[in-house]
Amino acid sequence: SSSSSAPVPPPQPSLQPNALSHNSTTLSDTIPPSVFTLPQTAQLEALYTIIRDKDTSRGDFLFYSDRIIRLLVEEGLNHLPVVKKSVVTPTGSTYDGVGFEGKICGVSILRAGEAMEAGLREVCRSVRIGKILIQRDEETTKPKLFYSKFPQDIAKRYVLLLDPMLATGGSAMKAVEVLMEHGVPEDRIIFINLISSPEGLKTFAGRFPRLKVITGWIDQGLNEKAYIIPGLGDFGERRYCE
Ligand code: URA
Repeated sequence: SSSSSAPVPPPQPSLQPNALSHNSTTLSDTIPPSVFTLPQTAQLEALYTIIRDKDTSRGDFLFYSDRIIRLLVEEGLNHLPVVKKSVVTPTGSTYDGVGFEGKICGVSILRAGEAMEAGLREVCRSVRIGKILIQRDEETTKPKLFYSKFPQDIAKRYVLLLDPMLATGGSAMKAVEVLMEHGVPEDRIIFINLISSPEGLKTFAGRFPRLKVITGWIDQGLNEKAYIIPGLGDFGERRYCE
């Protein structure tokens, strides 16, 4: 007898929930040990697909990039040290838990990094946030510090450094230099970004191996204009101007 009456299986989604995505496996042997990606779930890939789409409206770009930023900030906080802490619950029993050990602050690299400040504030109420403006010096073509303002006790804090796109790593490295000149130890800085290039990660993590990098997605590379490919274009333009 034939099996022609066998039921047709329903179409399968290309990624199962929480399945590892393609980019993490192909690049995993080149990712420096100080670099951590978000869990590459189907949900996260769907969020990135929306913000990468050139036809996504500015409103949707804001909404969905904010969702990714929130996930990134939460993951960044996972890397802060904790100490044992016991509390008494309303039942009268003791709960032996943990509490955050040190104080934190944010530092955004202007202009695009400012977009990540709200996500940090949502998670860390009344967090102090410093700012740093780095631009390419037209004469030397090197990243140059134009402005910085930090909490006055920044040397005693853990610093979440915020910049959405890690392309060549030039401005991020300059920002870390400036933070270290202000007394922040390298291993108290956590750099948080949405999309990174493999070459930028390699340069940055090679220079500052004790600094943790939390990135949402590692892309293919850079084009001749130092844009991340496939990337999402100019983050600041898409967030503030389009
Ligand atoms: N900055 C951006 O906004 N986009 C890139 O692709 C690289 C740097």
